[in-house]
Amino acid sequence: MGIKLAKPDDQALLDSVAAKTEQVRALLRRIASDFSPAALANSLSAEDMVLTDIIQSEKFDIENFSLDTGRLPPETYDLIAEVRKHYGLTLKLFYPRHDLIEAYTREHGINAFYESVDLRKGCCHIRKVEPLQRALAGKKAWITGMRAQQSATRGGLPVQIYDETNGLEKFNPLADWTEREVWTYIKLHNVPYNVLHDKFYPSIGCAPCTRSVTVGEDVRSGRWWWENPETKECGLHIKKI
Ligand code: ADX
Ligand code: SF4
Repeated sequence: MGIKLAKPDDQALLDSVAAKTEQVRALLRRIASDFSPAALANSLSAEDMVLTDIIQSEKFDIENFSLDTGRLPPETYDLIAEVRKHYGLTLKLFYPRHDLIEAYTREHGINAFYESVDLRKGCCHIRKVEPLQRALAGKKAWITGMRAQQSATRGGLPVQIYDETNGLEKFNPLADWTEREVWTYIKLHNVPYNVLHDKFYPSIGCAPCTRSVTVGEDVRSGRWWWENPETKECGLHIKKI
């Protein structure tokens, strides 16, 4: 969150961010040259903004796309517009299929995701997973902003792994970054970020499935807060990848 921005005199932190940034830059360079066409899946999270900043500053040939579920908070749309202004980058937006959304909401209702894990996963499938498959079609690699420390389901997250579900290489360049390192990068490089982070939203997804957290709570505890931690993945990332 914005409140966790580093103090400039924390030299060890600055050193580790500098070293890790260099590693990520080298990795992204390799992805751009060896796995073209490659794409960053950009949820407009703080992590995805760090990756976007490095890609844009180096002009790497890596596509940058977002899955617009139709239920994102207004602040996320504002950031999409800000990215266009700040970097001159128009994110490639993918939308859910209208026929699937219409069938789902007619049968189950507009907010059915609160009723069961199955209905929640069904909504995520229509609004995120199916559009992701179209976003990844023809790509050799995709990149995410996931970190191992984000949740119980992400421990041991690898930096590189073959994604069998989608049939291409998957990279998690920030796998070993801490939340503090992410925010230090953002501060050092004046990276635009979602204003909800300053209102105690460390992790942001769709508006109805995201809420603020209190001090000491897990960073993802505001996501699908009514479910158990073990079920809290939307289907974009299966089997710790
Ligand atoms: S989720 O599985 O709970 O939704 P999370 O929000 O932590 O995922 O994001 C993890 C990574 O998945 C992001 O860094 C990003 O690469 C990808 N991702 C998640 N949501 C989206 C989205 N709406 N558009 C593009 N990529 C996304
Ligand atoms: Fe639907 Fe919520 Fe999943 Fe968004 S996060 S796709 S609104 S269930």
